[in-house]
Amino acid sequence: MKKGKDDMENKLKKILENAMAQIELSEQLDKLGDIKVSFLGKKGELTSLLKSMKEIAPEDRPKAGQMVNEARAKIEETLTTKRKEFEQAMLEEKLASEKIDVTLPGKKLAEGHRHPNTITLEEVEDIFIGMGYKVVEGPEIEKDYYNFEALNIPDNHPAKDEQDTFYITKDILLRTQTSSVQVHEMEKGKLPIRMIAPGRVFRSDEVDATHSPTFHQIEGLVIDKGITFADLKGTLQEFAKRLFGEDTKVKFRPHHFQFTEPSAEMDVSCFKCGGKGCRFCKGSGWVEILGCGMVHPHVLEMSGINPEEYTGFAFGVGLERIALFKYEIDDMRLLYENDTRFLKQF
Ligand code: DAH
Repeated sequence: MKKGKDDMENKLKKILENAMAQIELSEQLDKLGDIKVSFLGKKGELTSLLKSMKEIAPEDRPKAGQMVNEARAKIEETLTTKRKEFEQAMLEEKLASEKIDVTLPGKKLAEGHRHPNTITLEEVEDIFIGMGYKVVEGPEIEKDYYNFEALNIPDNHPAKDEQDTFYITKDILLRTQTSSVQVHEMEKGKLPIRMIAPGRVFRSDEVDATHSPTFHQIEGLVIDKGITFADLKGTLQEFAKRLFGEDTKVKFRPHHFQFTEPSAEMDVSCFKCGGKGCRFCKGSGWVEILGCGMVHPHVLEMSGINPEEYTGFAFGVGLERIALFKYEIDDMRLLYENDTRFLKQF
């Protein structure tokens, strides 16, 4: 005798009750997955019940099938409802834990500052780039030849004493001046030249308010046919006006540098007192800014340039020196101490 529909109905009822109870008691979202598998999966209880359908009388099968389907739908629906409840609870918990008080004052971001040297250098570069110069760099570790010899400062020359530096070997040293970059640029053999070369230089000086064993210079070099001292004066006067203000006056004093002839030092009218004389310019009304001159014919020759055909001028300016003037800082050491209380003023 085949088992009847009633038997199946009883089983179904039990399965359904069991499923409902398990769903109701489940405490986590992932438990619902397990419950689904154990009732509706391939080997699930409801599925096996469906498989036993052949034991039911043919006329009862449609009804029994319908009941199983209804049970399946009921379990699925309850699972979905429960899942939504879990998800809602999780969302609420998340929202509660991430609650922010938008009325609290924000955290202040510490704003970085550029170093006065950097600001000054960029300003100088802008001025010369505007006049058609290119910015080049040379090595800080340099051969004696580039730092001295090719600049007309032979071995045993007293000028070498004034720029004593750190020697790595007898022939290799930390450069004392960016003038060495002039030689590198001339040796390339590409004329005309219109360059500035900023960079770090070294001297075996004691640290004080105006000296440091390492500081920075900006070198300038122009070589072309027909360059005269008038070009030098015009260029450097324009540079001074752009850097220190339109009213700045310049004055050239004769000087001596080995690699230029004639040579000069350029003073600018004191931008603090306008030239009347003050503590800043030590009463003179002028401050010394840079060294310059017409490139010595022998220096051109040594680097393979014909002085009969080409002439040029050069200049060298201390970066710290102009940064100190511009910002009215009276001690060079402040530029190197990295004290943020000082640096954040700029
Ligand atoms: N190199 C020189 C120094 O360190 C500065 C200088 C003077 C550079 C005259 C020049 C120049 O190019 O023409 O004292």
